[in-house]
Amino acid sequence: MPSLRLGNIAPDFEAETTAGPIKFHEWIGDSWAILFSHPGDFTPVCTTELGEVARRADDFAKRNVKLIGISANGLKDHNKWVEDINDFGASYGPTNVQFPIARIAIADEDRKISTLYDMLDEQDATNRDAKGLPFTIRTVFVVDPKKVIRLTIAYPASTGRNFDEILRVVDSLQLGDKHRITTPVNWNKGDDVIVHPSVGNDEAKVLFPEVTFHKQPYLRTTPLKVSE
Ligand code: BEZ
Repeated sequence: MPSLRLGNIAPDFEAETTAGPIKFHEWIGDSWAILFSHPGDFTPVCTTELGEVARRADDFAKRNVKLIGISANGLKDHNKWVEDINDFGASYGPTNVQFPIARIAIADEDRKISTLYDMLDEQDATNRDAKGLPFTIRTVFVVDPKKVIRLTIAYPASTGRNFDEILRVVDSLQLGDKHRITTPVNWNKGDDVIVHPSVGNDEAKVLFPEVTFHKQPYLRTTPLKVSE
């Protein structure tokens, strides 16, 4: 079971990254952050993921989200691999696009940060390096500007993550922080939302003039106009 839970403060750490040394909390600043681990450099699924993250840089920036990757590799490998990510990424993105975001990755050769964040899965015997040491698995931590962990996900090494889904959750969290709402199954930005259960019906009519009261008394939905 992961030792870090939703609502915990994301542990702070110092790290060497491809963009220089950082202190995690200081680096996050007033932004949201996504810390995501991957099994290793020069691996196929990870190469597609990092290319995608870089290609979607504007989607994350628009939401005030900074991304930082991590694996148990050294800086030399990270920097060399960035060339591959850029090269592969450019083959399915617009030409001459560089992917600067892929340059921000933590070099966690000694697995100190991966251990702190419980990113090593001793149970997964298929995910080990040549020496038999566990690779980092594909974890995702969404951290808000107060440094609180708001989402954790773990994917198997064999399955690339769906960054549309991660962005969707960020949208839901950010909207829920601003409005007294939750979001239903398969919700996407722009779809109707659910009035938070803590809002009484009279208050719901004031807060959400277009509210619909469904047959189930606990289910109230409403459109929500949001600026980009
Ligand atoms: C990959 O990124 O392709 C990968 C890495 C480790 C194990 C399996 C797949």
